Amino acid sequence: MSALNQRIDRALSQRQHQGLERKIGCVEGGNSRQLSQANREYINFSNNDYLGLASDKQLTQAWQQGLERFGNGSGASPLVTGFCTAHQALEETLCQWLGFERAVLFCSGFSANQALLFTLLEKHDLLLQDKLNHASLLEAGVLSPATMRRFGHNDVEHLKQLLKPNALVVTEGVFSMDGDLAPLADISLATQPHSWLAVDDAHGIGVLGKEGAGSCAQAGIKPDILIVTFGKAFGLSGAAIMCSKPVGDFLTQFARHHVYSTAMPPAQAYALHTAALMIQQQDWRREKLLELSHYYDQQLANVAGYRYTPTAIKPFIIGDADSAVQCAAKLKQKGLWVSAIRPPTVAKGGARLRVTITAAHNQQDILLLTEQLKRIGKESD
Ligand SMILES: Cc1ncc(COP(=O)(O)O)c(C=O)c1O
Repeated sequence: MSALNQRIDRALSQRQHQGLERKIGCVEGGNSRQLSQANREYINFSNNDYLGLASDKQLTQAWQQGLERFGNGSGASPLVTGFCTAHQALEETLCQWLGFERAVLFCSGFSANQALLFTLLEKHDLLLQDKLNHASLLEAGVLSPATMRRFGHNDVEHLKQLLKPNALVVTEGVFSMDGDLAPLADISLATQPHSWLAVDDAHGIGVLGKEGAGSCAQAGIKPDILIVTFGKAFGLSGAAIMCSKPVGDFLTQFARHHVYSTAMPPAQAYALHTAALMIQQQDWRREKLLELSHYYDQQLANVAGYRYTPTAIKPFIIGDADSAVQCAAKLKQKGLWVSAIRPPTVAKGGARLRVTITAAHNQQDILLLTEQLKRIGKESD
């Protein structure tokens, strides 16, 4: 047996023994309010489709129109022949909406984050990241030539202690596993004028701020760099780095994930353009989401495990990884699909149910879920 085989076997059995093995489940309707698996239906509280666009018919039609107009794949990377009027219109709309000079498109948020840190940072640079930042950011930071330090979660005082001129500070706007907001106004104040701030707003764009312009708009700040992803509130996939013209030109020249990767299909860019307009114009989606989030909070106040968040991400803390999996299985028996999140995605002892509410839910869905969560809370009391 080769060393590589041994390594793989060892890693897999270690995961299994720790009870942390991950499994891909095949489901239908994972992008909708209701999903099905093996002929059973469940109310879906696990996707990130905050505004209910992932299965919205108007958006499906836009993608179909895009296919009619532009064909299937883009055929090449953006700098060859993969970039067309659909991509251009999307970039322009994002710039106008979010107030940046340039938008550089990527096929995923993961690649946008990696591209940003790998391209921007050199040896001797200082990179400061919130310790709960997404894996794509933390991993890119570790692999980059810069020195990376992590500051305590949302701990601006700790950030200030670590900060030196010309550092790059990176935080999420809304934290994906905790649903809390970064103190963006304070972080921005601490960072300027000698360092740069980059905000990954994967979970804030579309959901927070006027016309869904995101966490930064809500906090009244403009970071040097904003990463927006399209797999959540946009109901599609892909990402953009929003930045100044010089940074955009620099990424266009040197960001390897952009230069050496096939551009997103033009029909997708066309659909994303429609999604960007729907997000800005359809306030009712955000209003409904807010209403349902409040209802959830009211139902669960004072229940063990419940954590208040000002967003649609609602962690319900269980603690132990096995118990979190058992709770998710109990909910499934009641027709409720909620993911158990375990280490290493969250810290040891912080295993949880990650509930996400979307504009596709209704009050009855929330009531069904909160009744079951109350039972779980009582059992663990
Ligand atoms: C905060 C954050 N950044 C980036 C990403 C990666 O985005 P994508 O799914 O588009 O690769 C995610 C995805 O879960 C995320 O939560």
